[in-house]
Amino acid sequence: MPRYFIWSIGCQMNKAESQRIAGCLDSAGYQAVTSFTDADLVILNTCVVRQSAENKVLGTLGLLKGLKNRHPNLQILVTGCFVDSDTQGLKRRFPQVDFLFKPGDYSELIVWSHEQGVPVEQDVFRYPFAALRTSATRNDTGEAPSPCAFIPIIQGCNNFCSYCIVPYRRGREVSRPLEEIVCEAKELARRGIKEVSLLGQNVDSYGHNLPGHPDLADLLNELSRIDDLARIRFLTNHPKDISPKLIATIASLNKVCEHLELPVQSGDDDMLRAMRRGYTVERYRELVQSIRRELPQISLSTDIIVGFPGETEKHFEHSFSLLKEMKFDVVHVAAYSPRPGTIAWQEYQDNIPSEVKRERLNRIEELQAAIAGEINSRLRGKLVEVLVEGKKKGKWFGRTRNDKLVFFEDAGDWLGRLAKIQIEKTGPWSLGGEVKYK
Ligand code: SAH
Ligand code: SF4
Ligand code: F3S
Repeated sequence: MPRYFIWSIGCQMNKAESQRIAGCLDSAGYQAVTSFTDADLVILNTCVVRQSAENKVLGTLGLLKGLKNRHPNLQILVTGCFVDSDTQGLKRRFPQVDFLFKPGDYSELIVWSHEQGVPVEQDVFRYPFAALRTSATRNDTGEAPSPCAFIPIIQGCNNFCSYCIVPYRRGREVSRPLEEIVCEAKELARRGIKEVSLLGQNVDSYGHNLPGHPDLADLLNELSRIDDLARIRFLTNHPKDISPKLIATIASLNKVCEHLELPVQSGDDDMLRAMRRGYTVERYRELVQSIRRELPQISLSTDIIVGFPGETEKHFEHSFSLLKEMKFDVVHVAAYSPRPGTIAWQEYQDNIPSEVKRERLNRIEELQAAIAGEINSRLRGKLVEVLVEGKKKGKWFGRTRNDKLVFFEDAGDWLGRLAKIQIEKTGPWSLGGEVKYK
């Protein structure tokens, strides 16, 4: 049977899709290996959100060109956001690649597998639990199975934020039927999964194009009824779309964890307009205030772009002071990277020097380290509930409901269990503590 290796970068959606691909290949009898050189079949699951990610893809394609020269029978498949609609052009540019398919376009992969004589079943992707496996990529092959699983609930994005390439590569929004997601979650729970993370570029758009227009709150209500499931998460929310109904639903459902990813991208109205985000700083601020009022336990994470075209020191200061004021638990900061084909790429010069971008990025990272350190230090001495995901360097690790990473040492077998941990050590990125048996 062919041996395969999946190289995967990018967001959680890519991670989820790599797991699905691995699952379906496993069920067809393909055998997972842990390096390019051991494989007969390599699948690159790619990301192009910034030039740095695209460069990694290009580097890996270069490496594989050499490998293919030495092993002409090696099959190379490419999926993920590197694949645009001009697949013929890509094939000409990268003759080492045997087959390309768009992110999530599994029907293409099925056709390919039939041509190879090692067919993958049609149904596997619609009901991927049929082929569930949790160790899919190089990073986690060989690790113990995690009690956490991703479930994509909506593909694509209709927002066209001016800087973002995602809608061009993943197409328009398509939601999976609610019953299909519930069915998958039930099967995952039956197989020992304790926590599901529902994925979408904008989960607040979930259900808009489905009959009866169910929304994310309806889905959460249904999933909450699954007995063996302990926790439910979802990401990413969009500040212009998140609804009071959703916030009330989070408050009312025990299993839904107190954590939201709510990317603000900038703390300046001029920048937000140029980014086409669809809200003002004031609206975002009010939104966070109302969320914190309704959900006092909530932890919040956000994304920020620095060095967007035309971002002056003043504009940047507005982002900086917003972060100082809001005190997020986590901030993902990125330097603007022009993406060919996007609105910002067409309309604006990438006119902020890379040293300035780097310096702004560092200032935000420094600020956030101090804020996160401060927030986390309040947990010292507190008892938190951790779902244990695995072991690293002899220590168990897992996450709290607020999505804080916690390490502890104990001789017992905690994998997949909820542990009560008394926090002793805290830092900006993780916590450490001791397990309490009672
Ligand atoms: N759907 C999510 C995530 C999209 S991509 C959302 O709406 O936020 C993840 C993050 O990458 C974005 O939040 C943004 O901060 C960053 N990003 C996207 N395009 C970028 C670009 N061209 N340059 C720099 N950062 C970018
Ligand atoms: Fe990109 Fe905006 Fe869609 Fe997020 S909401 S994927 S940033 S276009
Ligand atoms: Fe990257 Fe595509 Fe995700 S560009 S961040 S893999 S949606």
